Amino acid sequence: MFFRIVFLVRVLVSLAIAVSQDLNFTFSGFRSTNLSLDGLAELTSNGLLRLTNVTYHRTSHAFYPNPVTFKNSINGTAFAFSTTFVFAIIPEYPTLGGHGFAFVIAPTRGLPTALPNQYLGLFNESNNGKQTNHVVAVELDTIYNSEFDDVKDNHVGIDINGLKSERSAAPGYYSQLNGKLTNLTLISGHPMQVWMEYDGIEKQINVTIAPIDVDKPSRPLLTLSRDLSPILNSSMYIGFSSSTGSFSASQYVLGWSFKMNGLAEALNISRLPKLPRVGPKKTSKFLTIGLPVLCLSLVLVAVSSISYAIRRTRKFAEVLEDWEHDYGPHRFKFKDLYTATKGFRDEELLGSGGFGRVYKGVLPSSKIQIAVKRVSHESRQGMREFVAEIVSIGRLRHRNLVPLLGYCRRKGELLLVYDYMPNGSLNKYLYDQPPVALNWSQRFRVIKGVASGLFYLHEEWEQVVIHRDVKASNVLLDGELNGRLGDFGLARLYDHGTDPQTTHVVGTLGYLAPEHARTGKATTSTDVFAFGAFLLEVASGRRPIQPTEDIILVDWVFSRWLGGEILEARDPNLGTEYIAEEMELVLKLGLMCSHSEPAARPSMRQVVQFLEGNVPLPEISPLLLSASGQKFSHREGFDEFANSYPSSMDKAFAHSSSVAESLLSGGR
Ligand SMILES: Nc1ncnc2c1ncn2[C@@H]1O[C@H](COP(=O)(O)OP(=O)(O)OP(=O)(O)O)[C@@H](O)[C@H]1O
Ligand SMILES: *[C@@H]1O[C@H](CO)[C@@H](O)[C@H](O)[C@H]1NC(C)=O
Ligand SMILES: *[C@@H]1O[C@H](CO)[C@@H](O)[C@H](O)[C@H]1NC(C)=O
Ligand SMILES: *[C@@H]1O[C@H](CO)[C@@H](O)[C@H](O)[C@H]1NC(C)=O
Ligand SMILES: *[C@@H]1O[C@H](CO)[C@@H](O)[C@H](O)[C@H]1NC(C)=O
Ligand SMILES: *[C@@H]1O[C@H](CO)[C@@H](O)[C@H](O)[C@H]1NC(C)=O
Ligand SMILES: *[C@@H]1O[C@H](CO)[C@@H](O)[C@H](O)[C@H]1NC(C)=O
Ligand SMILES: *[C@@H]1O[C@H](CO)[C@@H](O)[C@H](O)[C@H]1NC(C)=O
Ligand SMILES: *[C@@H]1O[C@H](CO)[C@@H](O)[C@H](O)[C@H]1NC(C)=O
Ligand SMILES: *[C@@H]1O[C@H](CO)[C@@H](O)[C@H](O)[C@H]1NC(C)=O
Ligand SMILES: [Mg+2]
Repeated sequence: MFFRIVFLVRVLVSLAIAVSQDLNFTFSGFRSTNLSLDGLAELTSNGLLRLTNVTYHRTSHAFYPNPVTFKNSINGTAFAFSTTFVFAIIPEYPTLGGHGFAFVIAPTRGLPTALPNQYLGLFNESNNGKQTNHVVAVELDTIYNSEFDDVKDNHVGIDINGLKSERSAAPGYYSQLNGKLTNLTLISGHPMQVWMEYDGIEKQINVTIAPIDVDKPSRPLLTLSRDLSPILNSSMYIGFSSSTGSFSASQYVLGWSFKMNGLAEALNISRLPKLPRVGPKKTSKFLTIGLPVLCLSLVLVAVSSISYAIRRTRKFAEVLEDWEHDYGPHRFKFKDLYTATKGFRDEELLGSGGFGRVYKGVLPSSKIQIAVKRVSHESRQGMREFVAEIVSIGRLRHRNLVPLLGYCRRKGELLLVYDYMPNGSLNKYLYDQPPVALNWSQRFRVIKGVASGLFYLHEEWEQVVIHRDVKASNVLLDGELNGRLGDFGLARLYDHGTDPQTTHVVGTLGYLAPEHARTGKATTSTDVFAFGAFLLEVASGRRPIQPTEDIILVDWVFSRWLGGEILEARDPNLGTEYIAEEMELVLKLGLMCSHSEPAARPSMRQVVQFLEGNVPLPEISPLLLSASGQKFSHREGFDEFANSYPSSMDKAFAHSSSVAESLLSGGR
């Protein structure tokens, strides 16, 4: 009976003990809890347990207020237990934390004599490592202390009675899938979860850590086989201990669950209080993700806009030198000319000549119709002088000149901008099959106009301007069929040169005065010679040189005159619709101007007077002219040219021994 009673009492006692020892709690945030705090520890308004703030060299503790029975009172063995918590360490400086913190099982509630800094608020210098401490801890250390044999600054350890960990490792977790270890940084500021279990039968402690978005790994990070029975007292306190040193961090515990003799209840992460959005965390996120992304996109934007700009700049690149600023209004932007001519498309092509192609266009700003001549040139040599001339020529204003509006310079290319002449060039009215009708009075008016334009160039402007390329294709007809000289001075571009050996004579075969071909010197007389060829051309409707028929127009007209019937040389297309006196005047004047001796040619002033009828043409007989040594044919000279250059070639380039003189030969 007594034994029965004793047995019953024992069963009841053990039952009572079993009930009382099976402590369990789950804190998702600590708002309604009654933790015992000291030091820096405090609860934030949203229920976070903040162990430390950025105050240096301090400790802090947060203990579950009631003692926990850890040992079987009958045989004194330690119970199994399990705990888990979620923490975050937000360091003051992104790479430097405070000292870290520990989950601790201690015989007292609070560790008042423990030290801050590397002691983590767990021990002091004299008791560190002593058996009498009865302390078990899991340290989450962020600073390397060689005296405690730390593996590195960032580490997790199982401590028994001292800071020299029984087991320690760099924090990380093993993947459930492939068992790969992923490292973690305690001071990353990201919440992480720690699990600690003690198996009372196996006498084994497991410690596991993982980010909150990762399920508990099945393989623990640390395992220590140790019987906790001699270490733990029967009644213990559980909680957290932390410290700051010369550096500090805000260390938070977000949730905590514990269970004696069983598995601690899993924490519902979504129910944990939110971490404060503090500077360092934001900055680190911004620095690690935002900044690189921002930089990358900025770089991409920069690169693409630069390459676009480069492509655009290349497309519309112009050459602009300092001296050209003086020519301000005469310079066109390539972009404008590009727009005006619709990108220099073939539909806008007016024609092409010896210097380049001519395009029709409309200036975007003023809606003025223009003709743009693209002249290619190899060298920049003499470009400055040439542009100076072009610009001063641009100041020429005469009703019988094609107005030059300006220019634009690119690499290897010069663009000249002229007024658009709606009726095109004269040559197509003379030889095109069938010829476009241009009656004698119209032709005579054009002749008088061109004479007046050339006279203006030679004598009426402030400087002498030599045209150098007078011919039917350079006479353009405006809306009222007025003859206008174009392309003046352009031959000059090819005439420039410092080396006499390389200087070219430029003109058109058949219009080139013999002395010009010989010496390379262009003068007003050489222009008069070309004008003579032009007169004969317009009157006769024939080209100055017809290689197929081996006819040189001057010789042919002269032979008609010698034969006593100069009017036979007239253009047959005119029929009888012409005024004989005018025709005779034009033909005779043409021959006079084509005199091989420059001195014998009339000046443009005289030519204008003859054409206007103000002064009668001197009565010279062709016989007299021949007697005085006149030779219209310069067959030798021309043949030389014709042989050395293919007849199809429009331009005659000949080497000359003298430097071509300036287009503008001084002021008047
Ligand atoms: N200002 C203009 N207005 C209208 N058409 C023009 C104008 N300038 C030139 N053209 C046209 O462009 C064509 C080509 O002119 P371009 O001056 O290039 O050749 P060219 O006069 O035959 O030879 P050169 O190179 O000796 O001047 C001309 O025949 C003419 O029809
Ligand atoms: C936790 O302890 C309480 C008593 O404090 C008990 O009612 C509850 O069933 C226990 N829960 C678990 C999961 O052991
Ligand atoms: C909280 O714990 C303290 C002792 O640590 C105790 O005095 C107090 O009554 C407790 N309060 C509550 C609400 O549990
Ligand atoms: C840190 O916490 C302690 C204790 O709560 C407080 O006295 C101190 O002012 C806090 N310091 C800072 C910088 O927040
Ligand atoms: C101690 O007692 C418990 C039951 O109360 C038993 O499970 C355990 O095995 C005992 N330990 C030892 C070492 O006898
Ligand atoms: C813990 O137990 C040891 C003996 O096992 C004892 O000396 C010590 O005083 C106890 N500590 C506390 C705080 O009860
Ligand atoms: C260290 O701590 C122990 C008890 O935890 C205490 O007795 C001792 O006085 C402390 N030593 C110092 C130097 O604070
Ligand atoms: C993880 O940390 C350990 C210890 O610092 C190191 O040896 C290992 O290379 C790290 N692994 C990775 C993947 O960074
Ligand atoms: C500790 O981990 C090992 C696997 O490494 C496992 O076999 C053992 O059951 C674990 N112990 C506890 C108490 O979870
Ligand atoms: C976690 O808590 C949320 C909200 O309190 C709830 O909706 C969800 O079902 C919980 N999850 C688990 C696994 O208990
Ligand atoms: Mg031309």
